[in-house]
Amino acid sequence: MEPLSPLDEAGIARAVLAAQRAFSNAQTLDELKEARLVHTGDNAPITQANMRIKGLEKSERPVAGKLMGRARKDIQVALTAATERIEAEVEARMLVEETVDVTLPVTRTPSGARHPLPALMEDISDLFIGMGWQVAEGPELEHEWFNFDSLNFGPDHPARQMQDTFYVDGVAHAGSEADVETQPGLVLRTHTSPVQSHALLERGVPLYIVCPGKVFRTDALDATHTPVFHQIEGLAVDKGLTMEHLKGTLDHFAQQLFGEQARTRLRPSYFPFTEPSAEMDLWFPQKKGGPGWIEWGGCGMVNPEVLRNAGIDPEEYTGFAFGMGIERTLMLRNAIADMRDMVEGDIRFSQQFGTTGRGN
Ligand code: PHE
Repeated sequence: MEPLSPLDEAGIARAVLAAQRAFSNAQTLDELKEARLVHTGDNAPITQANMRIKGLEKSERPVAGKLMGRARKDIQVALTAATERIEAEVEARMLVEETVDVTLPVTRTPSGARHPLPALMEDISDLFIGMGWQVAEGPELEHEWFNFDSLNFGPDHPARQMQDTFYVDGVAHAGSEADVETQPGLVLRTHTSPVQSHALLERGVPLYIVCPGKVFRTDALDATHTPVFHQIEGLAVDKGLTMEHLKGTLDHFAQQLFGEQARTRLRPSYFPFTEPSAEMDLWFPQKKGGPGWIEWGGCGMVNPEVLRNAGIDPEEYTGFAFGMGIERTLMLRNAIADMRDMVEGDIRFSQQFGTTGRGN
């Protein structure tokens, strides 16, 4: 194409018209920018023609300068008009799209989230309520007699040292439940097992209870320990209960919590308040390094001494009991690596679990 001459009036008029059309056709600022580069950029015919003025005869220059000056001004006016048009359109669209209904009610307080630990304790309790069991609770500040003696931990029983007790009110050993009123010796309960004795004394037999609650041990807080944690205790006392009932109950419990594949396994162990006693393992498909057994809690047949301490004839009644940590259960179920996440109270941790322990 012939380069545009700065003296070609008709050619200049066509170039101006082309620019004006392009600008008014642009729908967005990006499209306008493109049109501006084409019609006013370094390689645009108008720009090139303008540079050619210098090469003209001196006498022709004033005419060319006038033509080019008007042309460039017309183009500039068209560009400004298009810019203003598009900006106004964008703003109008924004006003419509981003309309805020100021009459809508607002949420001033961010909503909270239930902590997964109490939610899980409720879920487990519900599961047992569904089988006709009751929920029992006991004091967190507990008399030594309930925490130890009633459960067959003798005064000098080595097992007393097994649990790292917070002694609150001196060390005293009551001989019987009657001494509880007169003897000091308060501890922060080290397990939920004392609720077994409370419930046996208060509710009598037959008895089927779960006892969820807080327990305390003198452990430092780290990834797998916390000085305040939670357990859930199960106790069934009736005529003719055997270890088979214990195993069946535990398997059902495990399956309800961990799915159909879950199973439990018992390993001989020792607790003063059960005889025989067992550690209970859970079959754990998600175990690090491949599926395997992982320790979940303790259990056994209620020691006749515990029944006798509550005035129940062990010749007539037998029972089984089990207890496990709620934190540990939650860690296993939800693959939580660090126990401190459960203690620190960051709401974002709790929000992941929704409103119930099952995370729905
Ligand atoms: N109380 C025991 C503990 O804290 C657990 C347990 C409960 C064992 C009931 C047997 C029966 O380790």
